Amino acid sequence: MTVRSTASAPLRNTFGVDARAGRLVETDDANDLPALFATAFSGASPLVVGGGSNLLIVENPALALALTARSIRVVAEHEAHAIVRADAGVEWHAFVLWTLEHGFAGLENLALIPGTVGAAPIQNIGAYGVEVGERIHAVDVFERATGAFHRFDASACAFAYRDSVFKHDLDRYLITAVEFALPHSASLPASVLRLDYAGIRDELATMGVDTPDARAVAEAVIRLRRRKLPDPAVVGNAGSFFKNPILPAGQADALLAEHPRLPVFRGAGEDSRKLSAAWLIDACGWKGHRIREGSGDAGVSDQHALVLVNHGKATGAELLGLARRISEDVRARFGVDIEPEPRLIGAAW
Ligand code: EPU
Repeated sequence: MTVRSTASAPLRNTFGVDARAGRLVETDDANDLPALFATAFSGASPLVVGGGSNLLIVENPALALALTARSIRVVAEHEAHAIVRADAGVEWHAFVLWTLEHGFAGLENLALIPGTVGAAPIQNIGAYGVEVGERIHAVDVFERATGAFHRFDASACAFAYRDSVFKHDLDRYLITAVEFALPHSASLPASVLRLDYAGIRDELATMGVDTPDARAVAEAVIRLRRRKLPDPAVVGNAGSFFKNPILPAGQADALLAEHPRLPVFRGAGEDSRKLSAAWLIDACGWKGHRIREGSGDAGVSDQHALVLVNHGKATGAELLGLARRISEDVRARFGVDIEPEPRLIGAAW
């Protein structure tokens, strides 16, 4: 057991907000968790931090916990696929690259998403036509209140667009490891690859690839993301700040009649539609806008209207204030509520 405790520890967050935990506890062994929760935390519920890519820290948390184990291994081999297990603390993109290098497909469309493996199931990360829930075999969790370990199979996770059972109960479970069911690239029929999301086929064509494999698709996605989304290492951001709103088909049709260029996608069911929040925000004139008040560093990316950015010294409260103004504008103009995708710490939406 290796437990490290640091007072007033800086908290990594891709927004680049200056944040600290009163105390940060790190452990590389999930078996330490029952003892930590039973005694060391004296009833306090820590904020579990991974890559900090989906957090907007408005108030500093008193206690934070990081799981630092980073092993990846194949736990079962089947004819057409394998079960690959990764600890929660593994960096997501490093994991995607590991699977591709070891001859597995299935995660190529999810290349370059910031964050950790343990965070991926919580909001069911998705990009370029794939959601991680489609590839998950099981999620191993620790239940804080009882000190027990449980396993959720994929159906028990209730995955939906940017949603899962874990997101509704953030203080109940802590994800310790995730198992993925991944097809072997060598025997992969080309039809299994998802190439239909806008931009992928064009990017493959630009790369000169006629018959793509999983690695080529990952490369295309990486190129698209680098071009379309600001790099958190250069300017602080948490990817899409808002979820794409899901509306009844009737309401979406009425909006479409008024705004024929509005991108509308099929929702989870026949009667629901997903709208592009980026388009709505862009139409309100927010893209590239920077707030003058306060630090003057909170703004909207000029590359993608869905991404709020910290140009330097923006606080969590400033970014949240900006988000609220944007959502009020979208509601006033289109009658649609948009909601944040990242988790807010120390504030409610
Ligand atoms: N658009 C605009 N203005 C912009 C950007 C986009 O009008 O500044 C319109 C365009 O018409 C475009 C449409 O919005 O066709 C959709 O844009 P995009 O393909 O970038 O997808 P998105 O719906 O905005 C979602 C995910 C992203 C993911 C991309 C690609 C959500 C909230 N976001 O964005 O995920 O990378 O699709 O699959 O679902 C993230 O969650 O952090 C994230 C970056």
